[in-house]
Amino acid sequence: MRTVDELIAEGVAGRRVLLRADLNVPLDDSTGTPIITDDGRIRASLPTLQALREAGARVLVASHLGRPKGAPDPRYSLAPVAARLAELLGAPVPLAADVAGPDAQAKAGALTDGGVLMLENVRFEPAETSKDDEARGALADRLAALADLYVDDAFGAVHRRQASVYDVATRLPHAAGRLVTRELEVLDRLTQDPERPFVVVLGGSKVSDKLAVIEALLPKVDRLLVGGGMCFTFLAAQGHGVGGSLLEADQVETCRRLLDEAGDRIVLPVDVVCAEALVADVQVTVAMVEAIPESLKGLDVGPRTVELFSEVLAGAHTVFWNGPMGVFELAPFTAGTRGVALAVAAVDGLSVVGGGDSAAAVRQLGLDEDAYGHISTGGGASLEHLEGRELPGLAVLAD
Ligand code: 3PG
Repeated sequence: MRTVDELIAEGVAGRRVLLRADLNVPLDDSTGTPIITDDGRIRASLPTLQALREAGARVLVASHLGRPKGAPDPRYSLAPVAARLAELLGAPVPLAADVAGPDAQAKAGALTDGGVLMLENVRFEPAETSKDDEARGALADRLAALADLYVDDAFGAVHRRQASVYDVATRLPHAAGRLVTRELEVLDRLTQDPERPFVVVLGGSKVSDKLAVIEALLPKVDRLLVGGGMCFTFLAAQGHGVGGSLLEADQVETCRRLLDEAGDRIVLPVDVVCAEALVADVQVTVAMVEAIPESLKGLDVGPRTVELFSEVLAGAHTVFWNGPMGVFELAPFTAGTRGVALAVAAVDGLSVVGGGDSAAAVRQLGLDEDAYGHISTGGGASLEHLEGRELPGLAVLAD
C-alpha cells in the first residue's frame, strides 16, 4: 500500500489531489443552525491535509455526512464542516455547491498550490452508495476527472464499497493517508501478538452487531468484558430475568454457546442501574443482575460492575474498548461509561478506543484524550478490520 508520504516524495506540487476524508461528524441542529458537537474526525484529518498543502498540492476534499437519501438536502450540507476546517487550518476552505458538477469543476480549476476546496456531501449523488457497479463507476469517472491523484484518509468509511471510497481509487494513482496508516498500525498491534493480558471491553446496544467481532476476538483475548444494552442478552442466556431491558431473544442461544465456550473469559456485569424510562430526571435503582425488577429497564452498568471491570483492566497490558456501558448521554446513566473510560485510560500499556460512540463518550465526558494510546475514528471500520474481513476501501489501495 503506497502512503501519502511516498506520493509526496514523488512530487505533488501543482497537482490536484482528491482527498477522501471521513468528516462525518455529529451535528446538533436543534437551534436551527447546525453545530458540530465533536470535531474529532476533522482534527484527525489535518496531518494528511497539511502535508499535502505544504508540498504544494491543490487539495479537493470529499466526504459524506450522515445518510441523506441520494439528493441534495441542506440538513446534510458540509457547510459547517468546511467552516470548521477553515478555522483549524487558518486558511479559506470554499465549498462547492455540488459533488462533481459544474461548480466543483470551476472551483477545482481555480485552485492554487496549497489551496483547499471542499466538495459537497458525496451522498447527495445517488450513485455514491449504489449497489450497481456501473452507476458507481460513472460517478467515480466524474470525481476522477476533477483530480490527478487520489488519497484515501477516510478510515471510518473504508468498509464501504462506495464510489468515492472504492471505485475512484481504481481510476487514479492512489495512496493511503496518514490517518489510515496509523489506524491500521494500531489495530494490527491488537491482533498480532498483543502484550498480555489482552482485555477487550464491548458495549453498545445491539449484541447482533458485535457477534462477529466477539467470535473473532474471543480466541485471542484473556478477558472480554461485556456491558451496554448488549449485556442483557448475555444475562438472559445465563438464566437471569432482565425486566424491560433491551433483549435480542433470537441471539440468546448464540450468547449461551459463547459463554460455554469462553468459560470465565467472558465477564458480565454483576449489577445494573435500572429505571422505568429513559428520561433525565427519572428515579433510578441499582439492582444485582439476579434481581432486575420486572417493571424496570437496565440502562447502565452498576458501581460494583465498574469496580469489577476496573480491577480486570488494571492488570491488562493491551486493551480495546468499543461501545458505551450505558446510555451515557443522560446524567443518571453516565457513571458506568465514565468509570470504564477512566479505567481504560489508566491502563499500563496500549489502550485503544474504538470509534463511534465510545470515542464520542471520551470527548463528551470531558476526559483527557491524550491518556489513551489511540482513539480510532472508525466505529464500524475498526470492528470489521478486527473481525479479519477484507475492507473494500483498503483492498483497492493495495493494488
Ligand atoms: C461512521 O460514522 O461510522 C462512518 O462515517 C461511516 O458512516 P456510515 O455508517 O453512514 O457509512
